[in-house]
Amino acid sequence: KQIDLGDYKYYMQKEIFEQPQAIRDTLESRITKNTVLLSAFGYRAKTIFKNTKHIQIIACGTSYNAGLVAKYWLEDIAKIPTNIEVASEYRYRNPIVLDNTLLITISQSGETADTLEALRSIKKRYKNIHTLTICNCAESSLTRESELILLTHAGPEISVASTKAFTTQLVSLALFSVAIGKCHKQVDKQQEASIVDGLNRLSGLIKKTLEQENKIIKLAQSFKDKFNAIFLGRGTMHAIAMEGALKLKEISYIHSEAFPAGELKHGPIALIDKDTPVIAIAPNDQLLDKLKSNLQEVKSRGSQMIVFEDEMSNVLPMKNMTVMSITHNLGRITAPIIFTIPLQLLSYHVALIKGADVDKPRNLAKSVTVE
Ligand code: G6P
Repeated sequence: KQIDLGDYKYYMQKEIFEQPQAIRDTLESRITKNTVLLSAFGYRAKTIFKNTKHIQIIACGTSYNAGLVAKYWLEDIAKIPTNIEVASEYRYRNPIVLDNTLLITISQSGETADTLEALRSIKKRYKNIHTLTICNCAESSLTRESELILLTHAGPEISVASTKAFTTQLVSLALFSVAIGKCHKQVDKQQEASIVDGLNRLSGLIKKTLEQENKIIKLAQSFKDKFNAIFLGRGTMHAIAMEGALKLKEISYIHSEAFPAGELKHGPIALIDKDTPVIAIAPNDQLLDKLKSNLQEVKSRGSQMIVFEDEMSNVLPMKNMTVMSITHNLGRITAPIIFTIPLQLLSYHVALIKGADVDKPRNLAKSVTVE
């Protein structure tokens, strides 16, 4: 059925602004004030999670980027060894899957051919594993063929460029990290309460971030004649930088790449010149000082820099640098979700300025169900 655009110009814009609600819907009846409810994953989840020794995530595109964030969370919070790979590679090689692996597929549509076929081939070859899908479509191939299901309640996503599906995937993966971490006695009550408190505050924080749209519209102006852009982040923010670069290239056709900031010196810095804007994400974490020195390296190449920071990060603006404080003192779960928002808005507005067909970018499909 046709979904009304209302006052919005494009579905992507509508879906970006629906995120506070989509996240509330995804959290609904899955958390209390200070705990994550294991029942959200189905009655078999407890036994399966307890027995899980390894996690393998497979996904494509934006869903892959969500999984990349989760790898950091799962090893950091639940202390379970986690691997992630794009489904289009995984399905065609001979991966070794250890006993007691939980195979997780992440997908908005639940119909992506590569992800589905990867799941099928592993299920056929390995019997001592379990499967979980994090999916936005209740009636889909992935939900039918997985043992455990956690639905992201983002609602229908029409725009090809994924936005609210991504942030609700992150929220779901955060719930999963805490739930499995509890089963492994790696998450104590206090830690759980503080993560859940962050999740409960997310919708409000996103709303506040969306209110900064005007500043991002201004920043977007400087991209209209650019051919290249580079996104930098460390830790989970590398994955968020990848998602920012994917969004920008998908809808504005500007060649954009993301690098872990520490890798700059091993090659990518050769690309940086005054015509290549650099977008960096600067959360207030233990890698902040290292990121600041990366920014110094970029500065000496004369490129335009945009830094999205936590207010507590105190990045001192340098020549050609715009520092935009996104919010205040975010935690390791909330930060990647919140820093996604300005990157979505940036790509949306750059595409608008360039006159691109935002919801239907050339050569792309919403869901790739054939090879
Ligand atoms: C296509 C879409 C992307 C999406 C990817 C994976 O390439 O254009 O936006 O991230 O498929 O789709 P899925 O439905 O599996 O998340």
